[in-house]
Amino acid sequence: MITLTRPPALLALILIAVLGLAGCQTGATPETPSRDLFQQLGERSGIAAIVEDLLFLIVDDDRINQQFKGMDVARFHRNLTDQLCQLSGGPCTYSGREMRELHADMAITDTQFNALAENLILAMEQNDIATGAQNRLLKRLIPLYPDVRNL
Ligand code: HEM
Repeated sequence: MITLTRPPALLALILIAVLGLAGCQTGATPETPSRDLFQQLGERSGIAAIVEDLLFLIVDDDRINQQFKGMDVARFHRNLTDQLCQLSGGPCTYSGREMRELHADMAITDTQFNALAENLILAMEQNDIATGAQNRLLKRLIPLYPDVRNL
């Protein structure tokens, strides 16, 4: 018998988007950045700690670590931290490369996308981020899915 301990991350993302589970909002409410998510993530320093833990998880994850070989770790850390800070309503401006262009040649699969989402969830767990806040951040990442997958 197959036992599912955790739903696949992408499925979880889609469920959150479709059902509007994030932050117990109604499905019809548009998601607008508000500073409280930024605060729940521990402000920019908390987000930086999450991204640091995410990096360690990526390195250990054979499903995706080859993709990240040779990248500029400091730049990735700074830019992803700024991006998550901005998306969560914080006073940051993402100044990294454009998402579609950046990921265009990587031929990222759904499995790899899910692996990264799973690692982000794990990194947030490691930093004691409340599940509601985790879901709200994931919901704000959903619109980037077509760009990252180059669809
Ligand atoms: C919602 C999902 C994702 C987001 C928000 C995201 C965001 C980012 C950001 C902000 C950067 C740094 C941009 C810069 O330095 O200019 C980056 C770089 C990168 N991403 Fe993603 N990413 C996502 C998914 C993925 C996935 C699934 C993979 C592969 C499994 C991936 C592979 C990479 C690699 C290899 C780099 C470094 C490229 C380089 O420095 O040349 N990303 N990503």
